[in-house]
Amino acid sequence: MKLTLIGTGYVGLVTGTCFAEVGHQVVCVDNDAAKVKLLQSGGIPIYEPGLEELVKKNVAAGRLTFTNSTAEGVQKSDVIFIAVPTPPQPDGSVDLSFIEKVARDIAAAMTTYKIVVDKSTVPVRTGEKVTETIKRYCPAKVDFDVVSNPEFLREGFAVGDLMKPDRVVIGVRSQRPVAAMKEIYTPFNAPIIVTDINSAELIKHAANSFLALKISYINAIAAICEATGANVQEVAQGIGLDERIGRRFLNAGIGFGGSCFPKDLSAFIKIAEQMGYDFRLLKEVQRINADQMNRFVKKITDTLWVLKDKKIGVLGLAFKQNTDDVRSSPAIDLCQRLQKEGAKLRVHDPKAMDKAKAALADATYVDDMNAVAEGCDAIVIATEWDEFKKLDLERARKSLSHPIMFDGRNLFDRVEMERLGWIYKSVGR
Ligand code: UDX
Repeated sequence: MKLTLIGTGYVGLVTGTCFAEVGHQVVCVDNDAAKVKLLQSGGIPIYEPGLEELVKKNVAAGRLTFTNSTAEGVQKSDVIFIAVPTPPQPDGSVDLSFIEKVARDIAAAMTTYKIVVDKSTVPVRTGEKVTETIKRYCPAKVDFDVVSNPEFLREGFAVGDLMKPDRVVIGVRSQRPVAAMKEIYTPFNAPIIVTDINSAELIKHAANSFLALKISYINAIAAICEATGANVQEVAQGIGLDERIGRRFLNAGIGFGGSCFPKDLSAFIKIAEQMGYDFRLLKEVQRINADQMNRFVKKITDTLWVLKDKKIGVLGLAFKQNTDDVRSSPAIDLCQRLQKEGAKLRVHDPKAMDKAKAALADATYVDDMNAVAEGCDAIVIATEWDEFKKLDLERARKSLSHPIMFDGRNLFDRVEMERLGWIYKSVGR
């Protein structure tokens, strides 16, 4: 099928590329001329495992093209996906101005029937607004359908999540666009759920809030484990093997971050408030998440006492492993908290150092993870990168003034670390 994606951020670029990979003819539109130029020349603006090869392959095959022109994108395809940012506003609500602008641009360029699909995460009832907007701003007065098709990909695993989705949600107002939407997704062999538009929009916020709730739940359990000498990983295993609960998203740590969970939680709380429901459960999820970071910082200050002029090595800056994304990164938040207390930081991340520099100045950026501990008083693990498990512990131990590690992601075995002579503080163990 001929498909256009408007917006080449994480969602738009990965989705467009995977659509091309299964054989669709895809146009990706972005208003950032430099980004389009980079993509046209075979580069990609983000780090996402497996994506670069896939972009190159599909560009070479002639199935994936990039342009600055929304009108060109609209004219070339039957189905237009909106995948633009929906950033948070200071009061927690969502800024929908990019969605509105794109809806107007699509409307202006439409001369035949189109299916306009919203992929961006939006508050429930946005589909109704997009429909009204397109009607109002379409001079050709052609027929169209608006569809909600939320995205569930995780950064760092986006290509895998897209090629093998758990489910595809298609929210519609009439049956007319259903066959085309199913045809787009047939190659992905996933269960397809057809709902009304409001339900599809709600599914996205409800899913992300539930996952955030799971993380806060295990972080709360971690606090009780610390007070009782229990082990949160064993508790997570013990409850997670119950199929009704599931083991995934039960890793205790320094709290969740990223461009989705914090923003989607605030948005969902705000949406509920506007609908007359006080979503106190989700407010508590936020509170536990903030508290988790406070408790970790306290662990550091309880052990090191005064941080002023202490040198601390930090492994991890990205908000999670396998990404260079530092938006709302708990690791950056932690670094800033330590700097505020006067600590001097030596930091390393396998992929996120360039992006971190804007948010975290005055730190020494170290290319080799094994050199981070040099001259430091302690080392902190802030992101769950797998390669940190291969840290040269003997070298780090010798480099530190005292062998102290704060492991915010429970990457190491506590008993083994203590046997090796470390003062080892982790989360919920
Ligand atoms: C999330 C959703 O998973 C995805 O379905 C949605 O489309 C977008 O939002 P993402 O933000 O890419 O994806 O990352 P995710 O893997 O969900 O992790 C979010 C945060 O939670 C990270 O900071 C991560 O470190 C943290 N996390 C995750 C935990 O602390 N513990 C866990 O068990 C899992």
